[in-house]
Amino acid sequence: MSEIAQLIIGDKTYELPVIEGSEGEKAIDISKLRDQTGYVTLDIGYKNTGATQSAITFLDGELGILKYRGYPIEQLAAKSSFIEVAYLLIYGELPTEEQIKKFNYDLSHHTLVHEDMKKFFDGFPSKSHPMGQLSSLVSSLSAFYPESLKPNQTAEELNLSIIKVLAKMPTIVSWIYKKSLGHPYIYPQNKYDYVTNFLNMTFGQRTEVVEIDPVVVNAMNTLLILHADHEQNCSTSTVRIVGSSASNIYASVSAGISALWGPLHGGANQEVIEMLQKIQEDGGDTDKWIAKAKDKNDPFRLMGFGHRVYKNFDPRAKIIKKACDDILEKLGIDDEVLEIAKKLEEVALKDPYFIERKLYPNVDFYSGIIYRALGFPTDMFTVLFALGRLPGWIAQWKEMKVHKEPIGRPRQIYTGATNRDYVDIQDR
Ligand code: SDX
Repeated sequence: MSEIAQLIIGDKTYELPVIEGSEGEKAIDISKLRDQTGYVTLDIGYKNTGATQSAITFLDGELGILKYRGYPIEQLAAKSSFIEVAYLLIYGELPTEEQIKKFNYDLSHHTLVHEDMKKFFDGFPSKSHPMGQLSSLVSSLSAFYPESLKPNQTAEELNLSIIKVLAKMPTIVSWIYKKSLGHPYIYPQNKYDYVTNFLNMTFGQRTEVVEIDPVVVNAMNTLLILHADHEQNCSTSTVRIVGSSASNIYASVSAGISALWGPLHGGANQEVIEMLQKIQEDGGDTDKWIAKAKDKNDPFRLMGFGHRVYKNFDPRAKIIKKACDDILEKLGIDDEVLEIAKKLEEVALKDPYFIERKLYPNVDFYSGIIYRALGFPTDMFTVLFALGRLPGWIAQWKEMKVHKEPIGRPRQIYTGATNRDYVDIQDR
């Protein structure tokens, strides 16, 4: 017998169904609440509200668990590759050798962007933020692939638009970086795998093939895997709701990029490094900055700390922290900001303010230190987050379409002026 929730309003008792997910999560289904009671619910920031039922990613914030399609993130980060994880998220199963070969073949034949897109790259001021460029450039792909605008694409058409956006993103990201340097673009080369191709387009030189260090390739794969999906976070929810209006995949992903840009979300990885550098320039006094983070009158927050869902360690932060030490050692880099980050973490995790609020390092706290060690400038960090999150956005967008979910349209409680008549300006 499935559980029932009872809601008592005045002298009436309403019964609401309870649904349970495969991992034991429970929800009260209020999809008929307004019809039954005339009431809606209010949950600003959706802290208690489920927007969908999804089979893609499970996370348990209390226990610090994260799984993609049932596979623990720790195993995927240690054993898989980013493009294999992308396949798992989008198609639901780990690929066979034949399937991953076909996937890589399809991707490698869609890595080019139309030459006319160079006009868009050239239109941006050279120091404009890469996230603003990325959002615009991804949306502009719809101009070159009008077939993607069809609201009811066949499964094959939908899959082709998925392949195209996934294949072209590394080219767009690397060309944004090259343009910022005033360097020539490097074209994708089919002989490389997805991540090596991206690194070659980013750090290679037109004339010589730069040997991409396997340590760097492995580190990039790990970071991209850890960012690949995270259930209904702000940017993924944005991709789903934009897609729910039957908007095309490029516009939906572009909207997700814009949401990720915010410093409270994906933009935090850039903010963390800028924060650590500011503390370093200020003499490295971590106690002073922890006190500022706790001071309600001080707008300063400990960036990279805290999470809407994780009230324990973000499992991704644990993996990235360990990877930091490994990668910096292998690359022979001694970065003082890593020591400052570790000191901040050590002090914060013993401080009642952070303990009471269950504030732990999140995915953004250490990731920027690795990106920096790999040679990326700070303003490219959130673009790298978007590159990693793309398969998750795609998988969630596809799930929403396959389930034929209705257009997202939340309700509200109106608190403005009640009815009044228009007054001519001379009488106001
Ligand atoms: C990501 O949702 C996802 O899954 C996101 C993500 C993903 O993979 O998609 O995991 C990626 O966005 C990670 C988060 C990156 N953002 C930051 O690191 C920015 C710094 N952290 C925050 O601003 C904050 O912790 C949030 C935005 C992450 C979560 O905010 P909530 O859940 O709305 O919590 P809140 O702001 O209401 O904070 C609760 C309390 C408040 O204190 P009180 O009012 O109760 O006294 O904790 C305090 C906050 O002031 N607090 C912090 C803090 N984060 C929360 N105080 C100091 N420093 C911080 N970082």
